[in-house]
Amino acid sequence: MCAVLAAAAASAAPNHALLQDKKAFIDDLLGQMTLEEKIGQLRLISIGPDMPREKIVEEIAAGRIGATFNSVVHVDNRMMQDAAVKKSRLGIPIFFAYDVVHGHRTIFPIGLGLASSWDMATIERSARVSAIEASADSLDMTFAPMVDISRDPRWGRMSEGFGEDPYLVSRIAQAMVRGYQGDSPARRDSIMASVKHFALYGAVEGGRDYNIVDMSPMRMYQDFLPPYRAAIDAGAGSVMVALNSINGMPASANTWLMQDLLRKEWGFTGVAVSDHGAITELVRHGVARDGREAAKLAIKAGIDMSMADTLYWQELPGLVESGEVSMEEIDRSVRNVLGAKYDMGLFHDPYLRIGSPADDPADRYAEERMHRADAREAARRSIVLLENKNRTLPLRKSATVALVGPLADAPLDMMGSWSAAGRRESSVTLRQGMEEALRGKGRLLYAVGANVTDDKRIVDYLNFLNWDEKEVLQDPRPPAEMIAEAVALAKQADVVVAAVGESRGMSHESSSRTRLDIPASQRALLEALKATGKPLVLVLMNGRPLDLQWESANADAILETWFSGTEGGHAIADVLFGDYNPSGKLPISFPRSVGQIPTYYNHPRVGRPFIEGKPGNYTSQYFEEKNGPLYPFGYGLSYTEFALSPVVLSSDRMGRGGRIVARVNVANTGDRGGETVVQLYIRDEAASVVRPVKELRGFQKIALAPGETRTVEFEIGEDELKFFNARLEHVVEPGEFEVQIGLDSQSVETARFTLR
Ligand code: BGC
Repeated sequence: MCAVLAAAAASAAPNHALLQDKKAFIDDLLGQMTLEEKIGQLRLISIGPDMPREKIVEEIAAGRIGATFNSVVHVDNRMMQDAAVKKSRLGIPIFFAYDVVHGHRTIFPIGLGLASSWDMATIERSARVSAIEASADSLDMTFAPMVDISRDPRWGRMSEGFGEDPYLVSRIAQAMVRGYQGDSPARRDSIMASVKHFALYGAVEGGRDYNIVDMSPMRMYQDFLPPYRAAIDAGAGSVMVALNSINGMPASANTWLMQDLLRKEWGFTGVAVSDHGAITELVRHGVARDGREAAKLAIKAGIDMSMADTLYWQELPGLVESGEVSMEEIDRSVRNVLGAKYDMGLFHDPYLRIGSPADDPADRYAEERMHRADAREAARRSIVLLENKNRTLPLRKSATVALVGPLADAPLDMMGSWSAAGRRESSVTLRQGMEEALRGKGRLLYAVGANVTDDKRIVDYLNFLNWDEKEVLQDPRPPAEMIAEAVALAKQADVVVAAVGESRGMSHESSSRTRLDIPASQRALLEALKATGKPLVLVLMNGRPLDLQWESANADAILETWFSGTEGGHAIADVLFGDYNPSGKLPISFPRSVGQIPTYYNHPRVGRPFIEGKPGNYTSQYFEEKNGPLYPFGYGLSYTEFALSPVVLSSDRMGRGGRIVARVNVANTGDRGGETVVQLYIRDEAASVVRPVKELRGFQKIALAPGETRTVEFEIGEDELKFFNARLEHVVEPGEFEVQIGLDSQSVETARFTLR
């Protein structure tokens, strides 16, 4: 007996293991299903801690549930799978999903942090480790990667994504899908990727979560849709549909989006799941009169599985009976669900990832210990050095360091939001990391110095969101007393390190902000520390670009560490003490103020561009403050220096279908080894439509020893020059192009060529 059949026989499953080809198998199964069983397959339900298990098992055994999420315990999932496979009439397995967004047990940096590494191998590895751990926890699918392009830091979910640039985010989307699914989602140690939130969720108006999206088709195609497409082209088996509306039609009822674009134009054949409660929300969007109409719109438009929503179950039978929804429409979605289960390998072996009771790990955290080195490496690579005046960093290990700030010893915040099965006990805080680094050499003094915020409205909100703890910990002492304690320590120290920024709940779903500054309680602490005259190093933890005008002027060094995960404390200490030379680059522009938003680097050209150094009237600018970002896209310093030569092109002409090569020499002119990211931008000088001032079209991360010079080459062909024209055709038009190569998006070397 072949292994497949043996596994099925051993699990006493009905003979689904007699798998012919996928289509024939699914046709056969579909032919045996009642309408009720079909609708059951379309239900994806959330398993809450207080849900009666007997009731769920009963529902599954009756064939009324297709999949669950939020259950990560083997015994529970085995019990549910037993009900599906051994008790339901047709024995169709269910699948288990979870939000494994930046790690599962081992937590990696948040999306913006991973993106700051510009290191595709590291990013792919983070997703691979996530898949190994999640599959070992009996999960089959993750609701990730989240690839929503976002250019508005007021939006709290920006933290989950990979920034503002379509090219960079698309590359990362592919790396994440490869990492999660490995060479096949049917592998025991793979999980299926559900790319989200399709589509354009990152463009909610004003950065206010769940708000509308109104966007021209050209911008969608050019900037916002490519990352979803990249994930799908990389084989993502599932798509999660967004909560927002797009140009007047909610995504969850949007036939253009889910059929014309996703299925017909892009050829997606996987399963489309709704976001949480999205079908019910169609009534609140005001496009459905009631639940019945909402279910009808969603199924017709192409939502296959309804997440945490009862409407499909309640309304689809009546809609089919009345003929408003056809059996073909139901079957189309059921096929997609069964197809995904087939692709996950569950018809071959429903217990593929659950295993047998005998194999249940005695220690559920063994995997996590195995992956600490991966997490530390990813976290170090995600840190961006924003300022380093007078070479304040790296610090000497023989120094006396005063560590202060509400995020210095905050294990939960360290992990960021959506930290899956991450545990506070596993999370290394900055205080722990620095203590270890200094042990036996220097001295670490510690005081909290301030609460993240003392604003009651914000504290109440964070308490409402707080997933793991009963209450957000607030030091009850008067702020002045906390600051005085910190200042006293600072005076005894050689240098002050202040860990400040946001608590993780401030950069999360539903956590939109109107201000981007460091909350007042922490700013007061920083001002007092500054007044001591001691060198001041800021370690920022946050999930969005902040307004750092005061900090950039007053701090001696600034490290942007995002929320860096389980090994964050070690990784930040590695950078602070020079055991790792920072190489991260911003995947998003940092504005000077909220009023400047959006500040993305690749904005379309205008007729009256602002010219630096010529602040005149009648150009596109804000007259009250300096124009341009505080820190541009692609920016990040190192403990060494790099120099770029002028760009040399292999030719200043390119024929249709041809290619040219752009070369620069990159030299490490400092006294330490280090890595940097060489970035290729292209500017289209004139086209049939308004084009961006420049666009990222390639990058290479390279390591150079002190004194070493390396030639970096970029090949440029028509793919690098293509864009969507007014008819939404992906075209290349002849004309002049400027090649820009730099170590950030602003300071670049240039050369020009003509496409004939
Ligand atoms: C979020 C999704 C998430 C889902 C399930 C929703 O509120 O928008 O991103 O995957 O919940 O947890």
